[in-house]
Amino acid sequence: MLVLGIETSCDETAFALYDSVDGLLGHIVHSQVELHNKYGGVVPELASRDHIRKCVPLLTQLLSQSRRSLDDVDGVAYTAGPGLLGALMVGACFGRSLAWALKVPSLAVHHMEAHLLAPLIESSDAPPFPYIALLVSGGHTQLLEVTDFGIYTLLGESLDDAAGEAFDKVAKMLGLAYPGGPAIAALGQKGNPERFRFPRPMTDRPGLDFSFSGLKTYTLNTINNFNPISDQDKADIALAFELAVVDTLYIKCRRAIETSSIPHLVMAGGVAANKRLRSTLRQKLSAKVYYPSQEFCTDNGAMIAHAGMLRMMGGERSGLSINTRARWPLDELSAIKRPAR
Ligand code: KG4
Ligand code: ZN
Repeated sequence: MLVLGIETSCDETAFALYDSVDGLLGHIVHSQVELHNKYGGVVPELASRDHIRKCVPLLTQLLSQSRRSLDDVDGVAYTAGPGLLGALMVGACFGRSLAWALKVPSLAVHHMEAHLLAPLIESSDAPPFPYIALLVSGGHTQLLEVTDFGIYTLLGESLDDAAGEAFDKVAKMLGLAYPGGPAIAALGQKGNPERFRFPRPMTDRPGLDFSFSGLKTYTLNTINNFNPISDQDKADIALAFELAVVDTLYIKCRRAIETSSIPHLVMAGGVAANKRLRSTLRQKLSAKVYYPSQEFCTDNGAMIAHAGMLRMMGGERSGLSINTRARWPLDELSAIKRPAR
C-alpha cells in the first residue's frame, strides 16, 4: 500500500511517499524558518498562508523525484493535530480533497504518534513492547509507556514550557535565530562547562513531570548579570542551559526505566535531534535507546506517511468530515490493529 503523507502542523510543509513493502520512496520538507525569523517565532497566519502556497509545488516535486504519479497512491495520510489550527486545516483540507478526487481512502494522523513511531521509518530494529517513550518537541515534553502499537499511557509531562520551547526562548534571549535548539547547541560547542551550573528542575522531588519555565528565568537572570555580555559569556550560558536540559531529561528517563523495570526507551521529536542528548541517553541509561536519524526527529512528512500506512494497513479510515485538533491527548488513540512492515 503506497501512502502519501502530508505534514503542515506548524512551520514545515512536508510531503512523503511510504510503501508498506518498499518503505520510504521519497520525502520533501520546506521550512518556513526565514519567513518567521524576523518575528522571533512562528506567526500562525503567515504559516497557514505559506502552507497553501507550497502544497502543490512540493507534491509535484516529490512525485517527480520519486518517479511516481498520483495514480500510484493508495491512500492519503494528513496531520490532524496537535498543532496550529489554521496550519493543520491547510494540510487536512488538501489531503482530504486529494483523496476524494483520487477515490482513495484518507486518514487523520496524530502528529506525536507519528514522531513516536519515527525510529521505525528506516530501521527494522524495533523495540519490544512494552517500552518507554520520551517525546521532546517544540510543543510537548512527555514520558509515556507504550504497551502496544497505539496504546500509550502518560507517565509524566511538562507542567509549563516544553523542552524545545525553552530552547527557542533562551536562544531569543541570547540573540540567536529560530529554531533555538540547533543554535544553542552550536554556540555551546565553544562554551566552558566548568563556568556555570544551572538547576535541574524537579529532579529533587519524586515523579516524572517536568518544568522548564524556572530554568528559563534562571538563564535570563544570569544573562542580565552581564552588561555588556561577551561572546564567551553567551557560549558558556548556552552550554550551561543545554547541559541542564539534557541532564534533567536523562534523570527523568532513568527514573522511568527504574520504576517500571522496562529496559527499552524510544526518544523522538525535534529535541531528540540534539547530539548531546542522544549520546548522553545512549551512554548513561541502563536501557537500549532507540531514536530516528536526525532528519526524522524534526517535523517531516515521512513520519506522517509511515504512521498513516501502519494504521491504514490495519483497516483504519477517516470519513469525509475534517476534524483538526489543536490539542489531542495521545491516550485517546486506539490500538493499531495489524502493524505491517
Ligand atoms: O518536532 P519539532 O520539529 O516540531 C514540533 O512538533 O514542535 O520540534 C521542534 C523543536 C524546536 O523547539 C527546536 O528548537 C527543537 O525542536 N530542536 C532542537 C534541536 N533541533 C530542533 N533542540 C535541541 N537541539 C537540537 N539539535
Ligand atoms: Zn513535531
